[in-house]
Amino acid sequence: MSRRKALRWRDLPTKEVLDGMMHRAAYRSDEALLTFNWIEPGMPRWMPHSHPFDQIVITVRGTQILEIENEILRCPAGSIARVPANAKHTGWPEGDEQVLNIDVFAPPRPDYLHFAAHQSEYPQPEPGYPVYHQNPRAAPPGGKWMEDTTGLLYRWEDLPKTSIEGGKMERAAFRGDHTLLSFNWVPPHTERMTPHKHPFDQLVLVMSGSLALEIEGEVTECPPESIIRIPAGATHTGWANGDEPVLNLDVFAPAREDYLPLTKYQKDYA
Ligand SMILES: [Fe+2]
Ligand SMILES: [Fe+2]
Repeated sequence: MSRRKALRWRDLPTKEVLDGMMHRAAYRSDEALLTFNWIEPGMPRWMPHSHPFDQIVITVRGTQILEIENEILRCPAGSIARVPANAKHTGWPEGDEQVLNIDVFAPPRPDYLHFAAHQSEYPQPEPGYPVYHQNPRAAPPGGKWMEDTTGLLYRWEDLPKTSIEGGKMERAAFRGDHTLLSFNWVPPHTERMTPHKHPFDQLVLVMSGSLALEIEGEVTECPPESIIRIPAGATHTGWANGDEPVLNLDVFAPAREDYLPLTKYQKDYA
């Protein structure tokens, strides 16, 4: 058994935000911070805000509306979008289902470090940082509903994929200014791949299926909707554990250069 443990997203410590209409948890790496936001149906549209760093928005469950610089996008489960740095944006849930969305910030935004204080491998955050206020009281949207969301919103199943290790798995990627996300579709009953390492750390999220992750020779079971961090320099590999295919999302920060060719479809980057 491994000393490392994958944490189920739902077991992460949460705090109430936006008048209790949202519960937020966070998990960080050396150079990125992810928030998990459980948004109650009926949460009002909050006041648009902006920040000097970009934000990747992953809708895992439910449907949410994202408004970016007066362009309104309907984001279904399984979609991904990016809010550019300094762009005014807001969002709200649609329908009766609770929304689960994951936001990615790189480098870790200082005003959210306290959400990740449960990770004892990092120093405790100091107060005294800027806060980009969010206020859940705002007028109805005045922007334009985007019927054509090409280049703005992507379904991760539809991202251009490449075959890895002679067809053992498929991979797609999505980048931000300082981070790169890779989606890995791992079929069951594939051979264990040769362990590798790199000088940057890696967050591993299991979106579906069950993953066995070997880090420095110790195997950790990573159930669906869990997260674990592979430290920089640690030797690792993984495989689908059981009969279900695995979809896993890896977060690298800064954006790893060897995966950048997978993000060529993102026309907002040269
Ligand atoms: Fe934001
Ligand atoms: Fe890796």
